[in-house]
Amino acid sequence: MTHDVSNGGSSPALENLSVEERRFPPSAEFAAQANVGSEIYAWASADRLGFWAEQARTLLSWQTPFTEVLDWSAAPVARWFGDGRLNACHNAVDRHVEAGRGDRVALHFEGEPGDTRTLTYAELQREVSRAANALVRLGVTTGDRVAIYLPMIPEAVIAMLACARIGAVHSVVFGGFSAEALRSRIDDAGAVLVITADGGFRRGTPSALKPAVDEALGGEQDALGPIDGSGAHTVRHVLVVRRTGADVAWTAGRDVWWHEALEAESDEHEPVWVESEHPLFILYTSGTTGKPKGIFHTTGGYLTQTAYTHLNVFDLKPETDVYWCTADVGWVTGHSYIVYAPLVNGATQVIYEGTPDTPHKGRWWEIVAKYGVTILYTAPTAIRTCMKWGEDIPGQFDLSSLRVLGSVGEPINPEAWMWYRRVIGGERTPVVDTWWQTETGGIMISPLPGVTAAKPGSAQTPLPGIAADVVDEEARPVPNGSGGYLVLTEPWPAMLRGIWGDQQRFVDTYWSRFPGIYFAGDGAKKDADGDIWLLGRVDDVMNISGHRLSTTEIESALVSHPMVAEAAVVGASDETTGQAVVAFVILRAEYRERVDEPGEGADVAATLRAHVAKEIGPIAKPRTILVVQELPKTRSGKIMRRLLRDVAEHRTVGDVTTLADSTVMDLISAGLNQPTGSAD
Ligand code: WTA
Repeated sequence: MTHDVSNGGSSPALENLSVEERRFPPSAEFAAQANVGSEIYAWASADRLGFWAEQARTLLSWQTPFTEVLDWSAAPVARWFGDGRLNACHNAVDRHVEAGRGDRVALHFEGEPGDTRTLTYAELQREVSRAANALVRLGVTTGDRVAIYLPMIPEAVIAMLACARIGAVHSVVFGGFSAEALRSRIDDAGAVLVITADGGFRRGTPSALKPAVDEALGGEQDALGPIDGSGAHTVRHVLVVRRTGADVAWTAGRDVWWHEALEAESDEHEPVWVESEHPLFILYTSGTTGKPKGIFHTTGGYLTQTAYTHLNVFDLKPETDVYWCTADVGWVTGHSYIVYAPLVNGATQVIYEGTPDTPHKGRWWEIVAKYGVTILYTAPTAIRTCMKWGEDIPGQFDLSSLRVLGSVGEPINPEAWMWYRRVIGGERTPVVDTWWQTETGGIMISPLPGVTAAKPGSAQTPLPGIAADVVDEEARPVPNGSGGYLVLTEPWPAMLRGIWGDQQRFVDTYWSRFPGIYFAGDGAKKDADGDIWLLGRVDDVMNISGHRLSTTEIESALVSHPMVAEAAVVGASDETTGQAVVAFVILRAEYRERVDEPGEGADVAATLRAHVAKEIGPIAKPRTILVVQELPKTRSGKIMRRLLRDVAEHRTVGDVTTLADSTVMDLISAGLNQPTGSAD
C-alpha cells in the first residue's frame, strides 16, 4: 500500500507513513512542462541502441556522422558511435557561438573572496582557443596527457576544454591531494604538462598549490629532489595561473605563466577532429588496493550520455535555467556535470571557488539568490551540514528561483531528502537522487523529475537506455523486497573504457565477480515496487563526504610512517560525512611506551593524521586513531574489518568465532574507552 503526498504543506499523515511508503509525485504544472514524459522508457527499452543513436545525433554535432552505434565484440571494452568524428570542445563551445548564441552566459564565476567573472560562450571560445594555441606552442599534441591541478576557477574549465580541443587527454588531480598523490598520478599517466595555479582561496585565506607541484617534480628550487628519488618524470612544462598573487618559486625554462602564454596567442583555433573513441580524460579514483585507478573515458558516448542525463534528469531549459553544481572539477561530478554536459547543452551555470561557510554559513544560499539559480546539484554531506547549521540560515535568503534539486555521491538518508525538499526547495521542487560512479561517466539510476513519484532515500529506477539490476551471489536477480549486489547488465555509452595502463585490472575489478556483467561494488535492495535503494559499498572503498577513499590506501600511508607496525582502517558511519575514517594502529615496539605517557597519546594521533594528509591529502585524515595491541584476524590472517567497524560505531561486537584470538576484541573495545585521538 502506498500513499501519494500532494505538493505543498506538510501533510500530518506523512509522519505516520513508513519511509518506503512516502511518495512525492511531480506537480501537474511541472509534469506538463517537463522535457520528457513516461513514454521515454518504453521507447528506450524497445530499441535501446536506436534510442542512444538518436540522442547522439540530436544532442551532439558530428564532423563525420557515425553509422555504427555499438560494437561490443571486444567486450568489456565498448565502442560507441565508432566511425563518427567530433570534438568535445567544439560541442561544448563553438557550435553555440556558430548558432548565434555567443552572447549567452556560459559561466558565472563567484570567487570565495567575492570577486566575480562572467564568461559568455563567445568569450569562452576565445579563451579556450588561446589556451589551445598555448598548449600547442608548449609542445602538447593530440594524445598527450596533461595533468590539471587547479582550484575551482574558470581556468580549470578552460584548461580542460583546451586539452579536449587539441585531442590531448586531461587528468585532473583534486587540489586537495598532496604532492605525493599528484606525483604518482603524473607518473602513471606520463603527463607532459602540468597546469596549476599559485593557489586558490579557501576559508578566507589563500591556499597554495604551486609548492606541491614543485615538490612533486623536484624543481630546482626544491632541495628535496623528486619524490621517488629517480629524477625521471615526464613533465616538460608547468603552466601557472595567477590567482592569489602569492609569491611562487620559479623553475626557469620549465615554468610558464598562464596569462603570459595566453596573451601571446591568437584567439582563433581550429578544433582537432577526433574519433568517437578518442580518449577524453583520465580520472584517478580509489579502488580496493592502495594504487589509485586511472579510469579513462572516451568522447562520443561519454558526451551523449552526460548531455542526455543532464537535460532530462534536471529538466534543463538552456535558455532560462541557471544551473549550479557545487562539486569540484577534481571529481567526476565536476567533469560530467560542470564542464561537459552543461556546456554541451548550452546552459548558463554558476561555479563557486570556496567553502559553504565563508565568510558566513549562508554563502551558498546567498549565491542562489544572487544569480537566481534554478537547478542545484549537491551532495548529501553538504545537505546534512546545512541541516546541522539550522534552517533559519537558508531561511534568510530568497530561494524561490529553485525548481529542481539533485543529490549525488552517497546514499541520501530520507530525513536529509525531506529537509532538502522542504527547506531548500520550498516543498515545491522535485528532488532527484542520482546514482552513478566515476566509472559509469554519467547518471545511471535516478528519478525523472516530471515523471517519477519520488521516494525519499531511493534512487529508484535505471534511466531510459540503462540496464541495472540487483543480484545474489550467483548473479540471479533478487525478487522485490530483497537485497544483493548492484550490477549493470548492458553496455552504456558513457561507460569507462578501461583503467589506464592496466586493462587486466579493469577486467578483474569490474567484470570477473559476475562474468559478463559489470559489478559496481555497491550493495542495494529492491523494495516492494522494484525501486532501487543504495546501501553503500560492499568492498573496501569508503565514502567520506561523497569522496571515494580506499581503506588500503590509507593503511599503506599509515604503515609508511616509522612508528607504525600495522594498521587497519574502516569507514564508520558518521552523521554528517556519511562515513568517517577510523584507523586502528599497532605501534612498533620502540614507540609503544610513548602512548602511555601523559599527553603523548594525542601526539601520536596528531603525527599520524598529519602524515596521512601529507601522503594522500587532508580529506584522507582519519577522524579517529586508536592505538591497539592486536588486530582481529581470521586464521588465514585477513583483518576482520567488519568487527572493527562494529567497534568504531560502538555497536556490540558481532560474531567472533572465526577470529584467531577472540580476546583481541575485548582488548580493542576496552581501549576504545580511552581513545588516543579524535579529529577536531
Ligand atoms: C556512491 C560519484 C548512493 C556509490 C558520482 C558509488 C551513491 C560511489 C550515489 C561512486 C547515490 C554515488 N546513492 N550512493 N545517489 N551516488 N554513490 O566514483 O557507492 O566518486 O559506487 O562517483 O559513490 O563514487 P564516485
